[in-house]
Amino acid sequence: MGRSWRLVPGPWCRNGFRRDERQEVAADGLAHSTMGLDTTLLEPNESCNQVFSAPPWWEKRLSEVARLSLSMRIAAACIAVLMASAVCGQETNVNPGINNHYRNPDYQRWVNVFERPGREVFDRRWEILEATAPKPGMVVADIGAGTGLFTRLFSPRVGPDGRVIAVDISRTFIDNILRTAARQGLVNIEGVVNTDRDVALPAGSIDLAFLCDTYHHFEYPQTMLESIHRALRPGGALVIIDFRRIPGYSSPWVIGHVRAGGKDVRKEVEAAGFRLVEQRDFLKTNYFLRFVKI
Ligand SMILES: C[S@@+](CC[C@H](N)C(=O)[O-])C[C@H]1O[C@@H](n2cnc3c(N)ncnc32)[C@H](O)[C@@H]1O
Repeated sequence: MGRSWRLVPGPWCRNGFRRDERQEVAADGLAHSTMGLDTTLLEPNESCNQVFSAPPWWEKRLSEVARLSLSMRIAAACIAVLMASAVCGQETNVNPGINNHYRNPDYQRWVNVFERPGREVFDRRWEILEATAPKPGMVVADIGAGTGLFTRLFSPRVGPDGRVIAVDISRTFIDNILRTAARQGLVNIEGVVNTDRDVALPAGSIDLAFLCDTYHHFEYPQTMLESIHRALRPGGALVIIDFRRIPGYSSPWVIGHVRAGGKDVRKEVEAAGFRLVEQRDFLKTNYFLRFVKI
C-alpha cells in the first residue's frame, strides 16, 4: 500500500518562520507519525533553536510596525529635505548646463569668439566703457569676465589707486586674464574664481559690479544677485548689458539661448534690492541698464 505525507503546522520560531512538521498518513487517512522538521519555511542557513508554542501574532505586528516605521522614516526624511531647502531658500537652477562650455575652456578659442569684429559688445566696447564710466580709484568687479575684454579696458580707467577684479567660474579664464594682464603691465588687475551661486567677494568691497552678457548665464540669478548686493558698498552700482529678447525682433538663437529679456531682468534685479537709475539705448541687440544698491 502506498504511503502519503502531509504537512501540519508546527510551532513558530523567533525568526518569524514556522517549524512545520511532516506526518505520514496511512490509508485510513489518519496521521500516525511525525517525521520531524520541515525546513521549507526556514530561511537558508537558519536553524530554529528557539521555539514558541504561542502563535506569533505579535511577531507579525512587530514586523508590520517595523515596515511602517521604515516608510514613515523615509517620508519624514524627504519632508525634512524639502523643508530645509525651503527654509534655506535654495534656488533651483534656472539654466542647467548653460555654462558647460566654460567649465574647461580653450582660452584662445574663446578669445576668437568674444573678441571678434561682428560681436556687438566688442565692436561697441569703447562706447560701453564710456557709458559704464568707471572712475579713478574705484574698485570694479567684471563678473563673468570671460577672456578679460572689459577687465583690460577698465584697468587704466580706475588707475593706480583703483582695482579691477576679474570674477569668473572658470579658473582657465581667470588664469589667462592674469597672465595677459601681467604681460601688458596692468598691475591693478586681480582675479577671483567664484562659484555659480556666489560672487565670492567680501561684503562692501566694490564700487561697481559690471556684467556683460553674463546675467543670462547665471544658473542661480537670485542667489548671485544677493551676493553681488552684499559685495557692493552702500550706493554702489550694478551695470548689466545683455541681449534684448524680443520675439519677432531678436534672432532665433537669442530666443532659444537667453532666458529673460530686459523687462524681466529689471524686475528680478529690483526684487534683489536695487533701483534702476539709467537705461541707455545705444546698442542694437543688447540693452544697457544701470542700477544702484538701495
Ligand atoms: C558669454 S560669456 C561673457 C564674457 C565677457 N563678459 C564678455 O562679454 O566678453 C559669460 C561668462 O560668464 C561666466 N559665468 C557664468 N556664470 C557665472 C557666475 N555665476 N559667476 C561668474 N561668472 C559666470 C562664464 O564662465 C563666461 O565666462
